[in-house]
Amino acid sequence: MDSKDWLYGKNLLSIKDITKPQINSILNESEVMLDSLKKKSKLSYLQNMIMATLFFEPSTRTRLSFESAMQRLGGGVIGFSDSDTSSIAKGESLADTIEVVSSYADIIVLRHPQMGAAEEAREHSRVPLINAGDGAGQHPTQALLDLFTIKVEKKRITDLNVAIIGDLKNARTSRSLAYILALFGNDITFIAPKALQMPKEVSSELVKEYGIKIKASESLDDALDADVIYIPRIQKERFASEEEYQRYAANYYTINKKFLSRAKKDPIIMSPLPRITEISREIDGMKNSVYFKQASYGVPVRMAILKMILSK
Ligand code: NCD
Repeated sequence: MDSKDWLYGKNLLSIKDITKPQINSILNESEVMLDSLKKKSKLSYLQNMIMATLFFEPSTRTRLSFESAMQRLGGGVIGFSDSDTSSIAKGESLADTIEVVSSYADIIVLRHPQMGAAEEAREHSRVPLINAGDGAGQHPTQALLDLFTIKVEKKRITDLNVAIIGDLKNARTSRSLAYILALFGNDITFIAPKALQMPKEVSSELVKEYGIKIKASESLDDALDADVIYIPRIQKERFASEEEYQRYAANYYTINKKFLSRAKKDPIIMSPLPRITEISREIDGMKNSVYFKQASYGVPVRMAILKMILSK
């Protein structure tokens, strides 16, 4: 059994680094945080602590929910949301930036376009580091809030059939989610055009390590018997050319009323957001459409994580 302080002083770089009981403890703490948000309780667990958000890629939800979470816990926030306004624009390395920011903050939240950047940054950080997305790699706090959403909406996080749809090659959120779902014994259907499918090594690892059932398909109809539908946007910035992006964007999947009317179960529709065209606005008001609620859970889940890393 892990001690209740298992996350204290630790980094959170990949969902693969944490165990099932550890994830459960984050989900439980998230519920406590959600409850205190609802009650508008004033919390001061992280008084005198500072979080630095270093975002080398665009973000709305991740950065703002981290900042909101830190402030809700009584802490302070510094950082940049555009590396052009930092000394990176003068040629400073990631390593040096992290080295210096380590002496300004008690925790660093990093988003970077390169896969593996968080691992590299960890080598230079003297304070705990959270990976808030490294290229097409990992986005562990998103996976945790995705799982939290499933728990709230479906009342269970195991034995579900989850369809993950779209640009699975590039969307790090789909990769992190796939690992966390597999760990909890859920079956996954990956729906994507062949060239954008989940990389083979990821699918094989999921089957081998966790013994779940995986199906790969190109047809949206294979999501009709899903309990949960997760559809990230096509990741425009990861395509080699505009022309290549347009080729896939023109035929990208869309979840709309017509599709939902054919669904066999009562699936919840999830997305890490932002939404481009993959979720029709006509379903926004439906009870199945939980993507905005999901985004709101970013605050309690990140509060739980910050509190567990920074306080005993
Ligand atoms: C995602 C990301 O940056 O990976 N956004 C987020 O964190 N909610 C998804 C995306 O950009 O498509």
